[in-house]
Amino acid sequence: MTSNTIKFIFENKIHKILNPDPNETILNYIRLRLKKTGTKEGCAEGGCGACTVVIGELKKNNIVYKAINSCIAFTPSLEGKQLLVVEDLMLKNGSLHPVQSAMVNYHGSQCGFCTPGFVMSLFSMYKNNTSYDEKTIEESISGNLCRCTGYRPIIDAAKNLNNNKSDQFKKNKKKTISLLKKIRPESIFINSKNKKYFAPRTVNELKKIIKKYPNLDFLSGGTDMSLIVTKQKKDIKNIIYLNSIDELNYIKENGKYIEVGATTPLRKFELFIKKYYSDFNIILKRYGSVQIRNVATMAGNIATASPIGDSLPLLLSLDASIVIESFNKKTTLKLKDFFIGYRKTKLKKGQFISSIRIPVYKKNIFKAYKISKRIDDDISSVCASFNLAIVNKKIKNIKIAYGGMASIPKRAIYCEKILLNSNLSEDIILKAQRSLEKDFQPINDMRASKNYRMEIAKNLLMKCFIEIKKNRLIRLNY
Ligand SMILES: Cc1cc2nc3c(=O)[nH]c(=O)nc-3n(C[C@H](O)[C@H](O)[C@H](O)COP(=O)(O)OP(=O)(O)OC[C@H]3O[C@@H](n4cnc5c(N)ncnc54)[C@H](O)[C@@H]3O)c2cc1C
Ligand code: FES
Ligand code: FES
Repeated sequence: MTSNTIKFIFENKIHKILNPDPNETILNYIRLRLKKTGTKEGCAEGGCGACTVVIGELKKNNIVYKAINSCIAFTPSLEGKQLLVVEDLMLKNGSLHPVQSAMVNYHGSQCGFCTPGFVMSLFSMYKNNTSYDEKTIEESISGNLCRCTGYRPIIDAAKNLNNNKSDQFKKNKKKTISLLKKIRPESIFINSKNKKYFAPRTVNELKKIIKKYPNLDFLSGGTDMSLIVTKQKKDIKNIIYLNSIDELNYIKENGKYIEVGATTPLRKFELFIKKYYSDFNIILKRYGSVQIRNVATMAGNIATASPIGDSLPLLLSLDASIVIESFNKKTTLKLKDFFIGYRKTKLKKGQFISSIRIPVYKKNIFKAYKISKRIDDDISSVCASFNLAIVNKKIKNIKIAYGGMASIPKRAIYCEKILLNSNLSEDIILKAQRSLEKDFQPINDMRASKNYRMEIAKNLLMKCFIEIKKNRLIRLNY
């Protein structure tokens, strides 16, 4: 059945919105309609965390809590979920939630503008973990900026949560689960203010919609797409929301390749990929923030085709393929053949990426490096990825790819040719470094100058081979 009413749990009750504006952000809904003004707007582009809210989702008779940036999520995406805002944390008798008490006790707030966002990020961490070490804490607040308190007192507050593990949400869990079961998400079709919004629940439904309306714009996590509304101040007229399709939220491995369904959030993938390619996990840990990775997808990163999309050089060096579907066709394409120009791909109207296939190289060495101005929540200046085998002291099966070095993420073909079948000597690496000038002519922009980019690209190549030769990591931050 298809509905035009969005249903979600708010303040322990079922909340309904009839035919909402598909371009209205959750942040605006909370502040302007629910009149809950604790949640703040800072940047309106997912970068500061002031708007962080927590979404509860029913998964196998349990509730999974996810911190998200409400400024870049549209209201219809609340269908079938629980919405928690900072006002929900305090009890009716005025008692503070353990996260709030810890922030007070450890002086984690000064002007207070960022505080609701930090509280909600820490609340999500509190609910999803049993203990909190410094790494978990730092990761949990990597998407929250504070301009005045500084982070040390906030981290101290978070550490103190190790001693306090019970809250009202734990006590109400059964009731919330039964409410979530009552509002099991339905397929949605909204036609409001001249805008159409479809949220199918199956691939079959998706294909029927595409057949009828081939010009709809696909929306997954919305971490790129929503900025059309919040930053460019334009409307997205016709949306087809993919993240409602659970069928595409999967990761499988068949010995030859790992297959990642299009709606799989990056946060789920980053945990899975660690045992295959640990540097992939390390790069994803620095990809946006927890709020971003809780909703953003790799398919969205690929379709965006940004030259500085972080997963792209890694996938290129692993020689990944994408599965592209339309209402009546399914094809597989190597990612290296997918990008055709600056933010241009081979995707045609009505075609969507249904999954990504990443080969499993059991004997290869895989390395990836991201250079950005900040460690957390920053886009790459240069991202480099290396995949190779060493057989009888010779370099074999080598694939190198860079982001930030051209108008598209690209393999370093000349460099690969020099290294293939060579010994791992300094002379060869120096020659390979020089060949990068044939592979790439980077540009100057606000992130880096062309000279800096080239220098970094060469240095990362050298770093990769020093790490391989010395058999140890040369890294500052982990
Ligand atoms: C604060 C912030 C930090 C960020 N940090 C990083 C970072 O560190 N590294 C990085 O690489 N990126 C970063 N990004 C960019 C963005 O998060 C990624 O590109 C993300 O992977 C996009 O995925 P999504 O699911 O949110 O895509 P959406 O925004 O939903 O869609 C993006 C584009 O892909 C299309 N699309 C989505 N899914 C499909 C599909 N299955 N088939 C066909 N087309 C599809 C959409 O139509 C749209 O054109 C950041 C963004 C923000 C706001
Ligand atoms: S307002 Fe800055 S992340 Fe949403
Ligand atoms: S307390 Fe002022 S911005 Fe964080």
